[in-house]
Amino acid sequence: MSKRCRPRLPDSLGGMKSKRFLKWSFLLILVVLIGWVFIAYWTSTNDCDRKTALVNPMKAIRFCEYGSPDVLKFEDVEKPAPNDDQVLIKVHSASLNFIDACVMRGPWPLRLITGLRKPEKTRLGTDVAGQVEAVGKNVTLFKAGDEVFGAARPSLAEYVCARERALVIKPANVTLEQAGSVAWAGFTALQGLRQGKIQPGQKVLINGATRGVGTFAVQIAKSLDAEVTGVCSTGKVDLVRSIGADHVNYTKEDFKGDQRYDVILDNVNNHSFSDRRRVKSEWRLRPCRNRRSMTSPGNVGTCGWDFSKRICCRGSSVRSSSGMLRNWTKRI
Ligand SMILES: NC(=O)c1ccc[n+]([C@@H]2O[C@H](COP(=O)([O-])OP(=O)(O)OC[C@H]3O[C@@H](n4cnc5c(N)ncnc54)[C@H](OP(=O)(O)O)[C@@H]3O)[C@@H](O)[C@H]2O)c1
Repeated sequence: MSKRCRPRLPDSLGGMKSKRFLKWSFLLILVVLIGWVFIAYWTSTNDCDRKTALVNPMKAIRFCEYGSPDVLKFEDVEKPAPNDDQVLIKVHSASLNFIDACVMRGPWPLRLITGLRKPEKTRLGTDVAGQVEAVGKNVTLFKAGDEVFGAARPSLAEYVCARERALVIKPANVTLEQAGSVAWAGFTALQGLRQGKIQPGQKVLINGATRGVGTFAVQIAKSLDAEVTGVCSTGKVDLVRSIGADHVNYTKEDFKGDQRYDVILDNVNNHSFSDRRRVKSEWRLRPCRNRRSMTSPGNVGTCGWDFSKRICCRGSSVRSSSGMLRNWTKRI
């Protein structure tokens, strides 16, 4: 057939073909995705399903299914062995963090990471205090018998392994019970306030002065000779005062008045940008330099944006997507 006689497809027919192609591609992707989720869901498993005999058993608290605290069991598990950079600790005290409760309950978006049907990691506990039992060959800071505390997962067990740089020697005037609750909340508060570079006599506001981070923040700021205002609810005013702060009771008043602060550590993020601005006299916006992950006492917290000249944010890297902006300190 000559070129001139070859029938040309009408434009509308070409358009229909590409529409059909897109439709089928979309359907194919959808089917593959549904199939993948289905397979991933039903093959999702954990070490509770493995029936191999334990070589070196120890007791631990674990959960084999997602759910309320009723899913927790006290069972035998394999005792961990430290690698070259780790320290094996005989646990004296351990504490939970908000992330433990969250992982145990298994909200659906989180299950994409932690296991769709069953939790991949079945053990809990983030902080630890105890005695060093053995050390890896690269460990230089600790030896067997030392009393240490710091961040270690999963610490709700007889023994846990921790990286050397996630631990410190326990001071003699602190009990093992006290030390076992310090790491995550304490170092988060410390890092946040350090970024604020507090000077004696400066006015510091801790929004959310109770619970984990807040109570540490009040005491740390007070020990730096700052004038500390803690924001809390009615029932906790006495607690916040007992750890050194003046107070603002958020159910009766708020911190939006005439007062100005040199440093604000915000644990709540319940005020608008303009509200916060009102209690500051100078604001600049720039990206935060210290973007870090929560890994060890020397390196705790995550930064989002730095809202003024010399302040850096510290943050909840783990809890929510708004975590980046959720907690920050700021300073003029
Ligand atoms: N805990 C940790 O180890 C850790 C580690 C890294 C990051 N974080 C992040 O740090 C933040 C604080 O965590 P958290 O565990 O210390 O505490 P939290 O359980 O999130 O407590 C929130 C604080 O907000 C206060 N609050 C609630 N409503 C308020 C309001 N309307 N006005 C003022 N304050 C209000 C609460 O005070 P009342 O008790 O008086 O109601 C409490 O002090 C969270 O965003 C968390 O994700 C925590």
